Amino acid sequence: MRTPVIAGNWKMHKTVEEAVDFVETIQRSELPGEVETVLCAPFLALPALAEKAKGSKIGIGAQNVHWEEQGAYTGEVSVPMLKAAGVQYVIIGHSERRTYFAETDETVNRKVKAAIAGGLTPIVCVGEVLEERESGQTKQVVQEQVKKGLNGLSSEEMKKVIIAYEPVWAIGTGKASTAEDAEEVISFIRKTVADLFDQQVANEVRIQYGGSVKPENIGTYIAQPNIDGALVGGASLEPASFLKLVEAAA
Ligand code: G3P
Repeated sequence: MRTPVIAGNWKMHKTVEEAVDFVETIQRSELPGEVETVLCAPFLALPALAEKAKGSKIGIGAQNVHWEEQGAYTGEVSVPMLKAAGVQYVIIGHSERRTYFAETDETVNRKVKAAIAGGLTPIVCVGEVLEERESGQTKQVVQEQVKKGLNGLSSEEMKKVIIAYEPVWAIGTGKASTAEDAEEVISFIRKTVADLFDQQVANEVRIQYGGSVKPENIGTYIAQPNIDGALVGGASLEPASFLKLVEAAA
């Protein structure tokens, strides 16, 4: 019922030329129509990627955005700027932004509202750090992030959000969550969405898993009833590996 989303998060990788080469390479293969395929690239590459991907099955996303439309915010990029460049998605609240760039649930909330108001699809990241997992606080932590990050959205707005559950200890470590553990947390996030909004919204909202997803393990996540695709870092950097991920989700 829900279309799976495979989104590559390139983080701080690829020049404009390398990014365009990547898209040209994957465009030589037939992408399955039943998977939403997204590439989230550094800002500089976005206009060229959006141009290349026009009319194809590939959606283009940014990795961050500011909540104001314009103003004295040195170094920032706004929703209208991304829209004008042909961008459709934006990652918000990635753990690396929370850890290194002081992103909070409050700034996540402002950004999510700005993204939706401006017509971008937000991919909102939540997830616990290792100490929180080990002390049994995972559900409490993600519940708090979901509640605060998505506070004040209408049901219609919430349906446009994609949530990515990325346990921080699994990001870039090769220590992926088991599919069963990811399913447990993701079904809990879906229940949280049902409590905050309603069951219909919870049934419709897409929730991805992220953290050391590879072509070898993606099938185990996709097989879970509540996991609607993946947000992928390292394994999205090579066209062949990214294509395998998309094909596995079909
Ligand atoms: O946003 C994707 C991410 O943080 C996971 O990275 O390299 O573990 O797939 P990776």
